[in-house]
Amino acid sequence: MDGWENFRKNWLWFEEFGFGLDLSGAQRKSKIDANAELAAFRAMEDLEGGAIANGSENRRVGHYWLRAPELAPERSIGDEIVRTLERVKAFAADVRSGKIRTEAGPFSDLLCIGIGGSALGAQLLIGALGGDNLQVHFFDNTDPDGFRITLDKIGHRLERTLVIVTSKSGSTPEPRNGLAAVEEEMDKAGLRLGKRAVAVTCSGSELDRRAEDESWLGRFPMWDWVGGRTSVTSAVGLLPAALSAIDVDEFLAGAAAMDRLTRNVENNPAMGLAKACYDLSGGGPAAAMVVIPYCDRLCHISRYLQQLAMESLGKKLSRSGQELSGGLTVYGNRGSTDQHSYVQQLRDGLKNFFVVFIEVLSGREPRRTKAMKNAGNYLEGFYLGTKAALAEAGRPSITITLRQITAHSVGMLVALFERTVGFYGEFTDVNAYDQPGVEAGKKAADRLLALLDELKLFLEKKNMSPNGNDAEAIAAAMGRPKDVEMLFKWLEFLRAQP
Ligand code: PA5
Repeated sequence: MDGWENFRKNWLWFEEFGFGLDLSGAQRKSKIDANAELAAFRAMEDLEGGAIANGSENRRVGHYWLRAPELAPERSIGDEIVRTLERVKAFAADVRSGKIRTEAGPFSDLLCIGIGGSALGAQLLIGALGGDNLQVHFFDNTDPDGFRITLDKIGHRLERTLVIVTSKSGSTPEPRNGLAAVEEEMDKAGLRLGKRAVAVTCSGSELDRRAEDESWLGRFPMWDWVGGRTSVTSAVGLLPAALSAIDVDEFLAGAAAMDRLTRNVENNPAMGLAKACYDLSGGGPAAAMVVIPYCDRLCHISRYLQQLAMESLGKKLSRSGQELSGGLTVYGNRGSTDQHSYVQQLRDGLKNFFVVFIEVLSGREPRRTKAMKNAGNYLEGFYLGTKAALAEAGRPSITITLRQITAHSVGMLVALFERTVGFYGEFTDVNAYDQPGVEAGKKAADRLLALLDELKLFLEKKNMSPNGNDAEAIAAAMGRPKDVEMLFKWLEFLRAQP
């Protein structure tokens, strides 16, 4: 088959949506046969029908209902989705119009506190589509330097800063510490946090109770049937998006449109993409997916997809209990920037990857001047050139094409990958909706923080200054010989504190 014929055969284009998928650079004899495809479709139908698709946590998986509430298995769920969306939009409209304001005037800044699935979706949306009505900042770590840099940037506008704290569980340490840092800063400035704060969390969580007790400005629900990494179409993504003047209805409509396409057996872009990813990655860690959007507005997409794919698919055991160690490694940044860093290796080095290009035919702003038109031509030229250079060297690639970056097309993109990951999880028989590894890390950190408290007490009692050289003696005296290495690390950490 010649190149053009191959392209025509493997190019899906949805004219109505200005959305396309080119699998011509990724053709392999598929390891997924018709039965496996059918089983994946059936599993998706069950999941959308309200089955317990997240078996290890005994939960349903309902992100598809968020953009089609009429499909929710119970009317009460659908009603709550609709009600929450209306409340999100009304709250955002009131903030933007200045109806909800501070003593010092309308809100000028938005500080989003959350981590992982409680941050990445909002970052993606605001980066791609955010307006300039509010200056948006994120606390998505527990690094005091990061908190300081952001708080300094906000500076005297802190009194006009709206704080959204997003945490499904309501007890994750990173957002809790971020909240404490901003509260301390507000206390110093004589400001009341509750008058500026909103919580997005599961009903009854620690965060929810606090927001209720202190009469925060708003409380929006998260539900146990929505996973963090698929929560961008819930209040978790929609609230910051609506506050940033993003058309959330269009975003949801885009996701719903893709959901409909990806329920079809024919011309299903998610099934095509999932099969290509599975065939190219070997169904395991053999090849990574390198995501390169040729569009600055999509600069967060690779990190977003990294979490979506790696937290969903990187599991130790299959649902039937088989040892796996599988996953789909994802990295990337953006084109053409990446051509000046790692693309050299992609072209000439290790053959352990496939690329997913995201081509955007037209930006948000019309390119009116000569210089802007020229820059746009180069961006497209660099994408086409890189794709050709990789193909010439036998390196596989896939391209997703968006006619334009709009709320609708970003909604389609998000939903395409959600379904792709869902199908891929079925091919490898993993529970794509739990994250036992994340929980394991959280538990280990809790234990080590308790060890730090014990060490500090010990040092205080003995009136000793911390020094790693004393680790062995201290471990013995504390009756913790097995923890000597960790005690050494904590002693050196304490020694470095001013
Ligand atoms: O996708 C996930 O489940 C995780 O990344 C969570 O979003 C992350 O751990 C934050 O959890 P929480 O929203 O409970 O604070």
